[in-house]
Amino acid sequence: MNVIVLVGSLRADSTNRQLAQNAIAQLPEGSTARVFDRVAELPHYSEDLDAEGRAPAVAEELRGAIADADALIAVTPEYNGTLSSVMKNAIDWASRPYGQACVTGKRTIVLAASGSPYAAKWARTDAVRALQGAGADVVEDTFGVGTSHEAFVDGTLVDAEALAELRALVGRLAPAPVA
Ligand SMILES: Cc1cc2nc3c(=O)[nH]c(=O)nc-3n(C[C@H](O)[C@H](O)[C@H](O)COP(=O)(O)O)c2cc1C
Repeated sequence: MNVIVLVGSLRADSTNRQLAQNAIAQLPEGSTARVFDRVAELPHYSEDLDAEGRAPAVAEELRGAIADADALIAVTPEYNGTLSSVMKNAIDWASRPYGQACVTGKRTIVLAASGSPYAAKWARTDAVRALQGAGADVVEDTFGVGTSHEAFVDGTLVDAEALAELRALVGRLAPAPVA
């Protein structure tokens, strides 16, 4: 499986980025994963920038990376009770051109880490909704890490039960076996 990963925090020590790496480590053997590291370069979405054949190169790179991937992992912090604008902007770029969006039908899971004990539950709910609106095939169950500044030691999620839950959700990226 070839997976593209979007991280909605730009912070150098981002706990969401650490969560993304923990998710990547749970992928089935033989999988490849790429964190799309140019989200900060995406301009704020505007239809004026997205005229036929004139989308910014970085947006085309994002679209190509998602189109080429078998599945998508979206990892977002919670800012003011919702997903980060960085993540929402990436989803907006990925959602167009209308009718030909790279995310259409793309198997997707949503993960989030937040400093509060509520584990970014509003951000996760809203990210699922935005990705569904964009046309992705989103797993409605999500995975959240609360009190995230204490949750990772040397980049690894220390709670074994939580790690098992993450592994189970990552496992749902694979297409269901045909009966
Ligand atoms: C503008 C802003 C708004 C925030 N709002 C929330 C919030 O609504 N809920 C929450 O749990 N944490 C909130 N936080 C705290 C973040 O959860 C915390 O900064 C977290 O570490 C961000 O993720 P990161 O470690 O990946 O950068 C907010 C932080 C910022 C900077």
